[in-house]
Formats: sequence, C-alpha cells, structure tokens
Amino acid sequence: MKFYKLINGFLYDKLFGPFWFRPFYSALMKEVKKYFIEKQIQNPIILDVACGTGNVLFLLKNITIENNLYGTDYSKNMTKATIQKLPNAHIETVSSEIMPFQNISFDCVVNTISFHHFPHQLETIKQMKSVLKNNGLLVIIDVVPFSYLPYFFTKLFHSFDGAFHVCSKKEMTDMIENVFHKKPTVVQLSHFPLPVFMYSVHS
Ligand SMILES: C[S@@+](CC[C@H](N)C(=O)[O-])C[C@H]1O[C@@H](n2cnc3c(N)ncnc32)[C@H](O)[C@@H]1O
Repeated sequence: MKFYKLINGFLYDKLFGPFWFRPFYSALMKEVKKYFIEKQIQNPIILDVACGTGNVLFLLKNITIENNLYGTDYSKNMTKATIQKLPNAHIETVSSEIMPFQNISFDCVVNTISFHHFPHQLETIKQMKSVLKNNGLLVIIDVVPFSYLPYFFTKLFHSFDGAFHVCSKKEMTDMIENVFHKKPTVVQLSHFPLPVFMYSVHS
C-alpha cells in the first residue's frame, strides 16, 4: 500500500511529526550543526531525500538560508505540504534514487525515517554520495527490525505503511561502508516502541 501517496500532508503532521519523530530530528540537528561548526561552513546547501511534509527542512532553515534547502519525495501530497511551508526551497516529486538537482553539490544529505520504504536502497546511497561535495556529510536515521519481537511482527507492522525492507543495523552499516569505503558512525536513538538508529558518514 502506498500509504504516503494517499495520506494528506496536514494529517501526516498531526499523526507523526510532533509525537514520534521530534527526538530523532533533534539528534539530526545536533549532528549537522556540529559538522558545520567544525568545518566552518556557513549557509550550507542541504538535500533532504524523502522530505515528507518538510519538517526537517523547516528546522534546517535555522542554520542556512531557505534558498539553499532542497528536498525530494515521491508523494505529491507530501511535496505540496513542503512547498507550502518553504516556498523558497527547491522541492521535487521523484523517487529516492533519482537526484533531480543537476549541477548542485551538497554540503550535506539527510534522510529521516524513510529508508525502509525505498525499493532501490543501495542505488539510493550511491546517488546520495554522488551529489555530496568532497568531505560532505550524509546522515540517515531509520528504524531497524523490532529486537523484542520475531521478525514477522516487523514485517506485519510495516506492511501497513508500505515498507519495502527494514535493514538491520549491520545491513545498513555494510551498505554505507560498501559505497563510502568507510564505516559510518552509528548511534541508537531509541529502543522502544520503534528501535531507531542514526548513521553518519563523510564522503
Ligand atoms: C515516515 S515518512 C518520513 C518523512 C520525513 N523524512 C520526515 O521525517 O517527516 C516517509 C516518507 O518517505 C516517502 N517515500 C516512501 N517511499 C519513497 C520513495 N521510493 N522515494 C521517495 N520517497 C519515498 C514517503 O512519501 C514519506 O514522505
């Protein structure tokens, strides 16, 4: 079921944004801010792959200008809501493995709570790397299978939101290492009810 193509952006924000995802967004903001301070990058150019209704991009507006924010998502309902929030950002409705912003190199690519939906996961990571500047930062935050339940329950739970494949921490780490030729830094952000990890790596 293509849940996110059907659900309206306003409803998505009411159901998910404030309650479930805020702690993950905070961890992401801390990570990217630390990186930009260390590298002394001002007004970074940032891409959010599968940006949903633009909640992460909206927070990123605190650390860069809106015109330097880019987002993609395959659901028109989601991109429409993002464009309403951020009329000066650059938003396109495309699948995750497609990078429509030719001639732009990004200081940072982010991706939150959506990687498990992507049908072309390895290709998406390769494409993310291809649009990053040299030494640019990639941060992916996503769920892993429920450690406290048999894998069947992960499958059942995610069948409702149209997940493709929920990577284990090892699968995700190996995939990133395979593309970037270095291990990502991995932090567990929550255990229950959704086990969520953050993976970050420099190109
Ligand atoms: C749980 S939402 C997360 C959205 C946003 N990253 C956030 O943190 O609020 C998952 C998002 O992935 C998008 N998505 C699912 N499959 C996709 C695909 N193949 N390509 C691009 N976006 C996809 C959905 O449309 C939805 O906006």
